[in-house]
Amino acid sequence: MSVTPKHIAIFASGTGSNARKILEYFAGRTTVKVALIVSNNSNAGVLDIALEFGIPSLVVNREALNQGDELNKALDKYGIDGIVLAGFMLLIPAWLVQRYPNKIINIHPALLPKHGGKGMYGMHVHRAVKEQGDTESGITIHVVNEQYDEGNIIFQDSCSVVPDDTPESIAAKVQVLEHQHYPRIIEQVFS
Ligand code: GRF
Repeated sequence: MSVTPKHIAIFASGTGSNARKILEYFAGRTTVKVALIVSNNSNAGVLDIALEFGIPSLVVNREALNQGDELNKALDKYGIDGIVLAGFMLLIPAWLVQRYPNKIINIHPALLPKHGGKGMYGMHVHRAVKEQGDTESGITIHVVNEQYDEGNIIFQDSCSVVPDDTPESIAAKVQVLEHQHYPRIIEQVFS
């Protein structure tokens, strides 16, 4: 019996190291297929990764994302069942949340509800962890709703933060956790 894989789109604005891990993970599996990569940044490294893996990609600016026509068509065309955010810098508009209830997930590089919300991304997060003297950090994978970083939490894992850690070394520890867990959790959520 052949099972149709769930088709997902990855939305990313930057380097795309998580996108790469997700693509590598699902390359040999039938549960989930990455069918589209969406970015708001035409220079994003993730678009090179899309080319490398032969995945169609679409660039949408903030207006096009909010207005929705072009993206909606692409989501139809590629039969997208769910969306994975991997460093996507724009707020997901209401129409998209409503089209995919509980089917959009995000990874945040800290232990929410700490260090989340507007403006808390990338090194801002790891600097805040360091400045507040936290003894741990980690990752949070959560459902996306119409507010930044506030949807239901699906999964968390933590790493220790010691006095010698810098924001950069915290970022490196957190990235290990992201790469280790995100593909597996995506598979659980979508397949
Ligand atoms: C990751 O830290 C992720 O947690 C955050 O954005 C970053 C994306 O990094 N939401 P990359 O482009 O996948 O390397």
